[in-house]
Amino acid sequence: MSGRLLPVLLLSLCLAVGSVQSQGSSQDAFIIQYLERRLSQMEERLNHCEQNTASLTQKTYDISSEIRGYLSAVSALRSEVKSQVDGVSVRVERVERELEYLENKIPTQTDIEIEEALLEQQIKAAELDQLKKKAKIKMEKDCSAALTQIKSLKIVKKVGDTSGSWFKDPSEGSAKVYLLSGIRNNTVLEYVSLQSFAERITTPPAKVLQLPFHWQGTGHVVYNGFLYCHKADTPNQIQKVDLLNGTVVDSTLIPGAGHVPVYGLNLNTYLDMAVDELGLWVIYADPEYGGNLVITKLDKGTLAVEYTWDTQCRSRDAEGAFLICGTLYVVYNIHYGGRSTIQCLYDIHDTIHSVESPVMFFPKRYTSHSSIHYHPGDKQLYAWDDGYQTIYKVETRVNDQTTAQ
Ligand SMILES: *[C@@H]1O[C@H](CO)[C@@H](O)[C@H](O)[C@H]1NC(C)=O
Ligand SMILES: *[C@@H]1O[C@H](CO)[C@@H](O)[C@H](O)[C@H]1NC(C)=O
Repeated sequence: MSGRLLPVLLLSLCLAVGSVQSQGSSQDAFIIQYLERRLSQMEERLNHCEQNTASLTQKTYDISSEIRGYLSAVSALRSEVKSQVDGVSVRVERVERELEYLENKIPTQTDIEIEEALLEQQIKAAELDQLKKKAKIKMEKDCSAALTQIKSLKIVKKVGDTSGSWFKDPSEGSAKVYLLSGIRNNTVLEYVSLQSFAERITTPPAKVLQLPFHWQGTGHVVYNGFLYCHKADTPNQIQKVDLLNGTVVDSTLIPGAGHVPVYGLNLNTYLDMAVDELGLWVIYADPEYGGNLVITKLDKGTLAVEYTWDTQCRSRDAEGAFLICGTLYVVYNIHYGGRSTIQCLYDIHDTIHSVESPVMFFPKRYTSHSSIHYHPGDKQLYAWDDGYQTIYKVETRVNDQTTAQ
């Protein structure tokens, strides 16, 4: 090996290496190209993937916002239903008030339409009619109070059957309270006072009075220590009983009464008795007279019929009635109990007229009354309301037309 040979060898080596090198770099370029291609393909797919994910996220978002929308709609609907339910009672109340208002309003409007001459003529006729009636009615005392409203309700006690009657003896100076539970019995309970009756355990205990016969219905009254009641199993017999010893002191038959129940909503009462400032009355329904109510004034001493008036008040849907100063007020209701209202009245003096009087509502309570008794001294109604003994205070005004006479 000479010094010449080495460069040759080196050169050839270099050449060899150079060819290898040039061969290697072209392969690298190919690989790099390939890799780049793959990379860009992968990037493209990644992009695609990202787009898909984005659209999926969008869809999920859309669906969830849709669900949220539904949910809020449902909750809105629910609160709407709730507010509607809440609103119903308010609306009922409003309708009642409107009804009251309209009832007050209508008569004045029709009045305006009536011509003056006609009105005068009617007034004259009414006055004449009244004078004629006045001549017929010979009242020992007279009064002129007109009911304006039923003011308040007090629940006193709950005792006895779902039907019955209770009341105070309205004669002056008497404090005694009587209770006749049910619709047929021979027992009368007597309490010394309202206070005693209201106690849970009555002191002194109620006096139990046993009559020699059965009474029927819920229309009884006690006046001055005498019970006036409908004798059971007779169509129209009224008995007057001395409650001191239970003896029947008088009895009478009310002509034309007792064929049908007095009130359409109280089918067990055929004769309803009442006491007002003028004395003792009996109320009944007359089938001959279209089922309207009839009132008869009785002499409380002898039970003799003094006079009878046919009223235009219907018996249908009525649950009770009472008289104040010779004016009959009829209480109407619905089956199974509602809001009691006075929708019809009849004044024997002919000075208060049903069409001019507004409907009067009883204090808010959904009930059915099996009896209602007015006490002229207390100006209170004693009512039997589904087994509860209740008291209504009433407000009256002086009826100008009568006092002007
Ligand atoms: C009569 O009344 C009494 C006392 O209120 C009661 O115990 C009795 O069951 C009643 N009788 C009838 C037949 O209802
Ligand atoms: C019942 O009492 C009245 C008056 O208190 C009396 O006149 C009558 O004779 C009494 N009757 C009987 C049967 O005791």
